[in-house]
Amino acid sequence: MHPAIDRILHTEAEIQERIASVAATISQRLGGEPLTVIGVLNGAVVFVSDLIRHLDAPLELAFVSASSYRDGTTSGSLELDFLPAPKQIEGRRVLLVDDILDTGRTMKGLVAELYARGAAEVHGCVLLDKPSRRVVDIDVDFVGFSIEDAFVVGYGLDFAGLYRNLPYIGVLKSEHATVPADDAEPPGTTPSP
Ligand code: IMP
Ligand code: MG
Repeated sequence: MHPAIDRILHTEAEIQERIASVAATISQRLGGEPLTVIGVLNGAVVFVSDLIRHLDAPLELAFVSASSYRDGTTSGSLELDFLPAPKQIEGRRVLLVDDILDTGRTMKGLVAELYARGAAEVHGCVLLDKPSRRVVDIDVDFVGFSIEDAFVVGYGLDFAGLYRNLPYIGVLKSEHATVPADDAEPPGTTPSP
């Protein structure tokens, strides 16, 4: 185990097994209709690349980058980048894939944005869900694991850009989960008391 990890929440084998099962549920629910799979950069890259290999529907893969403002006055507004081409959204059935549902702002904002850009259907899919952290009302259709309120890394999830390459999902040791005071607070971090 990496020395910055306090404990492993989900092993590589558990993750792979769960992804196969989530993919089977997606295939059952959405059938074999054409799909645009949109991964949210950077955290969902590992998850989405494993997930699509279990899906049989004819699909296109695209990515979006979303940063949300957390200053309270503009909550819910997202800065978006790398948006898919209009033809990948307009009239399409979209599977929006993120690493983790935390406050819910990113997913909620992206779902609204995709409908505004003409998507016929948007289905949310996250590997992890931290229901206790939710601040906006949003339900996603497909969830890998529901987890406690802890800052987790690995399998695509980062802290200050690191740990995405760990093959498992682990809780970061608290002494590794702080940033210098003049740095911005990373998204999803629960401020220390
Ligand atoms: P939101 O709060 O639901 O909008 O989540 C925003 C983003 O915060 C997610 O897409 C993740 O990239 C990040 N995030 C939230 N919780 C964690 C965590 O425990 N570890 C790493 N990233 C997280
Ligand atoms: Mg993210």
